[in-house]
Amino acid sequence: MIKKIICVLLFIISAFILFTAISDSNWYINKTNVLKNKKDTITCAKTESLYDKKTVVIYYSNGGNTKAVANVIKQLLQCDIAEIKSDEAYKQKNILKLKNLVQEQIQSGYIPKTNKTDISNYEVIFLGSPVWKSHVSLPVKSFLINNNFNNKTIIPFYTFGGKANKKQLDNEIKEYSKNANVMNSFLTVWNGLAFLEYQLVKWLNEVYL
Ligand SMILES: Cc1cc2nc3c(=O)[nH]c(=O)nc-3n(C[C@H](O)[C@H](O)[C@H](O)COP(=O)(O)O)c2cc1C
Repeated sequence: MIKKIICVLLFIISAFILFTAISDSNWYINKTNVLKNKKDTITCAKTESLYDKKTVVIYYSNGGNTKAVANVIKQLLQCDIAEIKSDEAYKQKNILKLKNLVQEQIQSGYIPKTNKTDISNYEVIFLGSPVWKSHVSLPVKSFLINNNFNNKTIIPFYTFGGKANKKQLDNEIKEYSKNANVMNSFLTVWNGLAFLEYQLVKWLNEVYL
């Protein structure tokens, strides 16, 4: 008798898990299609969409968190992606020393060298940066200062550890990029894909479609 009850319970639990997994994956596919299908009602309700414009994801990532978010955006939008590379000094493993170095560089106004990233072909740039000492990371600042953003739209996204002010970060992007049209940003703590995809799709619907 007990065996039978356990079997029935196990069956119900398995069915529930299977149902949840299927509904979740359907949700994901549907939401991804929302991004790919311009005829969706959300898109049609808007007067202007960035969806048709040539788009690229450009990011700087020292520890991999911003890179992970950048890759999810690239996958959702099926667009190009490019990495900003900068000083070897930032590869410092000692986090305290790295933070001190960055603090000194921010105070002295130091702008690190970065690789050349050709943005001439793009109209929309999703720009990813880690938060450093409450600021946009220095390699991203360097990228902004050294490029021309006339007639381009920047959609920023940031990863952080828990202390950052989105508005202040957006203002920095506006200040350094001068003529760019800067959209509402996305700020997240990277802790895996599960909740991030939901948040990302919601934000992309607001700013991009
Ligand atoms: C030099 C340095 C400064 C940081 N300053 C902040 C900060 O002010 N606020 C915060 O929330 N996180 C801060 N962090 C944490 C990073 O923003 C966070 O770990 C981010 O996801 C790292 O992205 P990445 O892995 O792409 O480099 C800092 C990390 C470093 C290395």
